[in-house]
Amino acid sequence: TFVVGENCIKCKHTDCVEVCPVDCFYEGPNTLVIHPDECIDCALCEPECPVDAIFSEDELPEDQEAFLELNAELAEVWPNITEKKDAPDDAEEWDGVPGKIQYLER
Ligand code: SF4
Ligand code: F3S
Repeated sequence: TFVVGENCIKCKHTDCVEVCPVDCFYEGPNTLVIHPDECIDCALCEPECPVDAIFSEDELPEDQEAFLELNAELAEVWPNITEKKDAPDDAEEWDGVPGKIQYLER
């Protein structure tokens, strides 16, 4: 599966959802997740993210391993998203800020 990692938090550009052939992105208040049972590993979404927040499970950085479980858990409760929407106004300022997991809203 592919995984939405930490840098999506507060950036949430949503370019990724437009290319997913199986519509397996789910939207929370300030980040997205991928449903691991629905993702077909096509890899189309990875290069679409302007802030490089998406990883193949095999390439997920060690310090982001918590996101594997978070994607699985939150994809079960958050609504599906298939159309791009505007990123938050301050998305640029949050790109690459370390420790964003503390800001994850459920
Ligand atoms: Fe969707 Fe493909 Fe990305 Fe999986 S790898 S989330 S199927 S675009
Ligand atoms: Fe997040 Fe990147 Fe998609 S910021 S919403 S994973 S395009």
